[in-house]
Amino acid sequence: MAILVTGGAGYIGSHTVVELQEAGYDVIVCDNLSNSSQKSLDRVEQITGKKVKFYLADILDRAAMEDIFKSNNIELVIHFAGLKAVGESVAKPWEYYNNNISGTLVLVDVMRQYGCKNIIFSSSATVYGNPAFIPITEECPKGTCTNPYGWTKSMLEQILTDIQKADNEWNVVLLRYFNPIGAHKSGMIGENPNGIPNNLMPYITQVAIGKRPELGVFGNDYDTHDGTGVRDYIHVVDLAKGHVCAINKIRENCGCKVYNLGTGNGYSVLDIVKNFEEATGVKIPYVIKDRRPGDIATCYSSADLACEELGWKAENGILEMCADSWRWQKNNPNGYDD
Ligand code: NAD
Ligand code: UD1
Repeated sequence: MAILVTGGAGYIGSHTVVELQEAGYDVIVCDNLSNSSQKSLDRVEQITGKKVKFYLADILDRAAMEDIFKSNNIELVIHFAGLKAVGESVAKPWEYYNNNISGTLVLVDVMRQYGCKNIIFSSSATVYGNPAFIPITEECPKGTCTNPYGWTKSMLEQILTDIQKADNEWNVVLLRYFNPIGAHKSGMIGENPNGIPNNLMPYITQVAIGKRPELGVFGNDYDTHDGTGVRDYIHVVDLAKGHVCAINKIRENCGCKVYNLGTGNGYSVLDIVKNFEEATGVKIPYVIKDRRPGDIATCYSSADLACEELGWKAENGILEMCADSWRWQKNNPNGYDD
């Protein structure tokens, strides 16, 4: 029995493939490489010493998906494939709804056609909108998303929940990620953003390597300890391990379950700058800019449920996250293009 990882050439997917292979699973990856490079999987093979069976396939392409299921005995799908740039989703809502929602509908239809009714889905803390309370537990009501990307996550959670409700042979685990950063300790795989990074850590590492002159800090007048936005940063390898734990839950026939994957700790933008400088010895010049539209002041998780029910807990602290992000960037100044 194999595990199919959609979007497995991407940032979180490639780290998860490493953890799955190291846990002894037989892994198949399908990715259309729209936001990734197949070189990530070559690196995964170097890290684990195992081959990754790769299909260059789009989840919207029913025939290609059928071919994957026909040729392999797939027990479970870990579904990362999707477009994820918040700003781009505002400019291209159709593309985001089509890729993320229609793509998932094709995927789950082919899954049930082949009797594979187990799925772990990449959701996001963005579904909480401006959270009703902090720390955010899974009981916190879902909120109003500020962009189409966020809505695709919120809607897909609903779609998968309804599919499981209608047919209890399905097992669905919805994982709500907080802010993944860091990279594999080998420095061989990591986040590889296209163009100017939108997210904080890749921007910081590009300042550190000299690609960008300074970091813009988006607002210092939030109601937080230093006025800058507070988030729950989680090491991508810890996040990847959360998926391995979720497989065991699926194997217990769990029905539909929702878990936060975060650390439970909140760090401000300036905390991250300070910790990055301490972990790496590299100075990060910054300027205070206006707030970024759609941003909230504070977002961090309660990670208790995942600990109780999955036996999972993030292990890496903020200094390790910074050091590992930097090792990847330093070893690969141009990502997989080096
Ligand atoms: P990523 O862009 O690195 O990985 C996504 C992968 O999916 C890419 O390799 C891309 O080529 C592939 N893909 C996209 N559309 C596809 C399609 N139609 N068919 C086949 N492959 C397709 O992003 P990531 O950071 O690794 O995120 C993985 C998942 O986790 C995404 O669903 C994302 O929305 C979600 N997520 C990410 C974050 C984050 O901060 N990185 C936070 C919360 C949730
Ligand atoms: C962003 C997305 C969110 C997505 C999440 C996943 C937005 C509005 N939200 O969240 O939907 O689920 O990524 O990773 O884009 N910051 C700066 N300067 C920068 C970049 C960021 O000050 O150049 C600040 C932000 O204002 C925020 C913090 O750093 O306070 C983290 O930002 P980012 O990494 O973009 O993540 P989120 O905003 O939490």
